[in-house]
Amino acid sequence: MIHIMEHAPRTPSQNQQPLENIILVGFMGSGKSSLGRELHQNLGYQLIDTDHVIEKQTGKSIPDIFSQDGEAAFRNLETELLKQLISQKTSEHIISTGGGVICIPENRTMLRKLGFVVWLECSVKDIFERTAKNKNRPLLQCDDPMQAIKTLLQERSPYYEETAHLKINTTGLSLNEVSCGILESARYYFGSA
Ligand code: S3P
Repeated sequence: MIHIMEHAPRTPSQNQQPLENIILVGFMGSGKSSLGRELHQNLGYQLIDTDHVIEKQTGKSIPDIFSQDGEAAFRNLETELLKQLISQKTSEHIISTGGGVICIPENRTMLRKLGFVVWLECSVKDIFERTAKNKNRPLLQCDDPMQAIKTLLQERSPYYEETAHLKINTTGLSLNEVSCGILESARYYFGSA
């Protein structure tokens, strides 16, 4: 199901060139990376995966950053990267973000400045199934990952809601269907300034 949030129309500030990126937000395992690749193929925009950029910039894996430097240090890296993307006036890109990027208020503001923000909403069951075998997500390496997912999702859902221009429940939809829905809404959004 596709849901356009009430705060959808954009209001670029005067003298500011609006940035035309499509930004994917959503919980771990909600399909941001696969959909990012699908949108890249359908639209031709280059794909930026913030986790990958951070790994490249630091020369460390995400689990190593969490274990050696802590979650707060990782959040700072995410904030710095968003600042870079804005100061470089990055436009016409698909930006796939880490699931916790919306936890920091400053990040939520920057994501909306970067363009059209899409929240891929996903059920707890789907998230659990998709993340169960993957050891690369430090926040889910605990005794009760199902409970961790529920707690984090409850905490974060209002932030996704606040940040996104569009919410899509991806259950039962193909990647192509989701991609087409996003592209139609994004065209409308970018054309409405
Ligand atoms: C995180 C999500 C991960 C990664 C890091 C923290 C989170 O990205 O940024 O492990 O806090 O939800 P994905 O959403 O791509 O798994």
